[in-house]
Amino acid sequence: MEKHIFLLILLFLIQFSISIAFSNETDQQALLAFQNLITSPNHFLANNWTKNASFCSWFGVTCSSKRQRVVALTLPDLLLQGTISPSLANLSFLSVLNLENNSFHGVIPYGLGHLPRLQVIDIQNNKLQGSIPTSLFQHRRVQIISLAFNKLDGEMWKGPWYAPELRVLNLRNNSLTGIIPPSVGNATKLMNFSLSYNKINGNIPKEIGNLSQLTFLSLVDNQLTGSIPTSIFNISSLLSLTLGRNSLSGPLLLDEGIFLSNLERLSLSLNQISGRIPSNICQLIQLKILSISSNNITGEIPKNIGCLSKLEEFYIGNNPITGTIPTSLGNISTLGNLYCETNSLEGPIPPELGKLSNLIELDFEEDYNLIGQIPEAIFNISSLEYIALTSNKLSGRIPTSTGLHLPNLLELHLSGNELEGEIPLHITNASNLERLGLATNFFSGTTI
Ligand SMILES: *[C@@H]1O[C@H](CO)[C@@H](O)[C@H](O)[C@H]1NC(C)=O
Ligand SMILES: *[C@@H]1O[C@H](CO)[C@@H](O)[C@H](O)[C@H]1NC(C)=O
Ligand SMILES: *[C@@H]1O[C@H](CO)[C@@H](O)[C@H](O)[C@H]1NC(C)=O
Ligand SMILES: *[C@@H]1O[C@H](CO)[C@@H](O)[C@H](O)[C@H]1NC(C)=O
Ligand SMILES: *[C@@H]1O[C@H](CO)[C@@H](O)[C@H](O)[C@H]1NC(C)=O
Ligand SMILES: *[C@@H]1O[C@H](CO)[C@@H](O)[C@H](O)[C@H]1NC(C)=O
Ligand SMILES: *[C@@H]1O[C@H](CO)[C@@H](O)[C@H](O)[C@H]1NC(C)=O
Ligand SMILES: *[C@@H]1O[C@H](CO)[C@@H](O)[C@H](O)[C@H]1NC(C)=O
Ligand SMILES: *[C@@H]1O[C@H](CO)[C@@H](O)[C@H](O)[C@H]1NC(C)=O
Ligand SMILES: *[C@@H]1O[C@H](CO)[C@@H](O)[C@H](O)[C@H]1NC(C)=O
Ligand SMILES: *[C@@H]1O[C@H](CO)[C@@H](O)[C@H](O)[C@H]1NC(C)=O
Ligand SMILES: *[C@@H]1O[C@H](CO)[C@@H](O)[C@H](O)[C@H]1NC(C)=O
Repeated sequence: MEKHIFLLILLFLIQFSISIAFSNETDQQALLAFQNLITSPNHFLANNWTKNASFCSWFGVTCSSKRQRVVALTLPDLLLQGTISPSLANLSFLSVLNLENNSFHGVIPYGLGHLPRLQVIDIQNNKLQGSIPTSLFQHRRVQIISLAFNKLDGEMWKGPWYAPELRVLNLRNNSLTGIIPPSVGNATKLMNFSLSYNKINGNIPKEIGNLSQLTFLSLVDNQLTGSIPTSIFNISSLLSLTLGRNSLSGPLLLDEGIFLSNLERLSLSLNQISGRIPSNICQLIQLKILSISSNNITGEIPKNIGCLSKLEEFYIGNNPITGTIPTSLGNISTLGNLYCETNSLEGPIPPELGKLSNLIELDFEEDYNLIGQIPEAIFNISSLEYIALTSNKLSGRIPTSTGLHLPNLLELHLSGNELEGEIPLHITNASNLERLGLATNFFSGTTI
C-alpha cells in the first residue's frame, strides 16, 4: 500500500518536472522555430518575440495561467509570409491556432491534427497547398476547422470521419478532390459546412441527414452527381441550402413532407434537376431566396406560389416551365427580384404584379408566348430598375404615363414583341435610363 502511494507521488513529481521543463523549453523553441520560417521583411514579431521577455508576453501568444503553456496562437491579418513550421505541433497545450488572412504558403503541418487539445484551426485566406491532415477529421475535440480560400488540392479524407465536437468545417475556395464520405454523418454537431468552389465528386451521402444541427450547407460549384438525398429535407435547423453549379439530377423535392420550416435560402441553380415545383413548397414558410434556374424543371409554377410570403428573390429562368404566370405572385410584397426568363410561359402578365411595390428587377425575356398588354400598374412601381420582356408576343400600346413613375429605371427591354402606337414621350422622365430596347415591334410616330 505504502509502496503504491510512493509510486504515485513519484509519478506525479516526474510529470510535474517534465511539464515545468517543457514550459520553458519546448514552447519557446517551437515558437522561435515558427518565427524563423516567417520571411516577410521587417515583420514586427522580430522585435517583439525576443528571449529577454517571457514568450507568454509575446504578441499573439496566450498562455494558460497555471502552467504557463501556450494555449492560443492568434496572428491574423498581419501580412506574414513563409511556411508554417511543423514545430507548432510541439505546442502540446495549443487549443486555438488562428493565422487567418496572411500569406503563408506550403503545406499544413501534419502534426497539427494530432494536437490533443486543439479546438480551433483557422488558416483561411493564405496560399496553402497539399492536403488536409486527415487526423483533423478524426479529432475528438476540434470545433472549428476553417481552411477556406487557399489552394489545397489533395483528396478530402474519405476514411471514417469521427469529429463529435465539430461545429464549423469551412473548406470553400480550394481545389479539393474526392468524395463526401457517408461518415460525415458522424459529425453530428456540425452547424456550418461549406465545400463550395472545389472539385468534390460523387453523390451527396444520405447520412448528411444525420446532421441535425446543420444551419448552413454549401456545396456550390463542385462535380456532385446523383439526386439530392431526401434526408436533407428533414434537417429542420437549415437556414441556407446551396447546391448550385453541380451535376445533380433527379426530381426537385419530395411530395412527402418537407420539414425545412426555417429555410431562408434554397439555391439549386445550374444543375440537371428535373420534375416540378411541388405545391408543398408552401411549407418553406421562411423562404427569402429561391433559385432553381438553369435546370430541367417542368410543369407549371404552382398557382399558390404567393404562399411564400417572405420571398425576396425568385429565380426560375432557363427551364422548360410552362403555363401561365400565377396572379398570387402579386401578393408577395417583399419580392425584389423576379426572374422567369427563357421558359415557356404563356398568357398575359397579370396586373396583380403591379402590387409588387418593392420590385427591383423583372425578367420575362424569351418566354416567347406572353401575350396581351403590359399592365400599366407595372410602370408605376417606382423601385424598378430593370425590366426585360424581350422576345414575347406582347401587344397593344405602352401606357402613356410610362416613365413618370420610374425614377430608378436603368434598363427597359421590350424588343421583339408586337407593341404598337407611339413611343410615350414621358419615357424621357426616367432620367436614369441607360439602356432602352424597342426594336422589332410595330411602333409608329416620330423617334424620341
Ligand atoms: C510585444 O507585444 C505585446 C503586445 O502588443 C506587448 O505587450 C509587449 O510588451 C511586447 N514586447 C516587446 C518585447 O516588445
Ligand atoms: C530585447 O532584446 C532585443 C534584442 O534582442 C532588444 O532590441 C530589445 O530592446 C529588448 N527588449 C527589452 C524590453 O528589453
Ligand atoms: C522559465 O523558468 C524561469 C525559471 O524558473 C522563470 O523565471 C520563467 O518565468 C519561466 N518562463 C516561462 C515563460 O514560464
Ligand atoms: C480577413 O479578411 C476578410 C476579408 O478581407 C475580413 O472580412 C476579415 O475580417 C479578416 N479577418 C480578420 C480576423 O482580420
Ligand atoms: C519537438 O520537440 C522536440 C524536443 O524538443 C524536438 O526534438 C523536435 O525536433 C521538435 N519537433 C519539431 C517538429 O520541431
Ligand atoms: C472563390 O471562387 C470563385 C469561383 O472560382 C471565384 O469567383 C471567387 O473569386 C473566389 N473567391 C475568392 C475570395 O478567392
Ligand atoms: C462513422 O460513420 C461510419 C459510416 O457512417 C460508421 O460506420 C462508423 O461506425 C462511425 N464511427 C463512429 C466512431 O461513430
Ligand atoms: C456560419 O456561416 C454563416 C454564413 O456564412 C455565418 O454568418 C456564421 O457566422 C457562421 N457561424 C459560425 C459559428 O461560424
Ligand atoms: C445516419 O443516417 C443513416 C441513413 O440515413 C441512418 O440509417 C442511420 O440510422 C443514421 N445514424 C444515426 C446515428 O442517426
Ligand atoms: C424524415 O423525418 C420523418 C419524420 O421524423 C421520418 O418519418 C422520415 O423517415 C424521415 N425521412 C428521411 C428520408 O430521413
Ligand atoms: C429533362 O426532363 C425530361 C423529363 O422530365 C427528360 O425526358 C429529359 O431527358 C430531361 N433532359 C435533360 C437534358 O436532362
Ligand atoms: C392575395 O391576398 C389576399 C389578401 O390576403 C387574398 O384575399 C387573396 O386570395 C390572395 N390572392 C391570391 C391569388 O392568392
